[in-house]
Amino acid sequence: MQWDEQLATGVTKIDEQHKDLFKRMDKIAEACKNGAAKDELMSTLMYLRKYVDSHFSDEEELQDKSEYPKREGHKKQHKFFMEKVDSLFHECEEEGATLTTILKTNTTINDLLVNHINNHDKEFAKYFRTK
Ligand SMILES: [Fe+2]
Ligand SMILES: [Fe+2]
Repeated sequence: MQWDEQLATGVTKIDEQHKDLFKRMDKIAEACKNGAAKDELMSTLMYLRKYVDSHFSDEEELQDKSEYPKREGHKKQHKFFMEKVDSLFHECEEEGATLTTILKTNTTINDLLVNHINNHDKEFAKYFRTK
């Protein structure tokens, strides 16, 4: 999956973090192509978990500071993703890198990266730029 300028929010800090997430996504895809060793998938998920956690905190901090009116709903989405990544992590721990866990990981990250960034983060960025 490629970063696309369409996904830019215009807030440099957020955009840089999003680009990093995309790079990670590529690594997961690569690991899956090469027969997805469980260890590799797990370490990527672990990284993702930490990364997403700090990225979400940064984003939420900006939203709180700028008193973004939709911040509660946005936070809920972040929480949902965190829980998803957590449950994926446990699933992979138990089942290993099976076709199902790999597909689920890909779907979750696609949703997180493309849909969330493209809709919700962009909407926030639009608001933030007017502040
Ligand atoms: Fe984001
Ligand atoms: Fe977000």
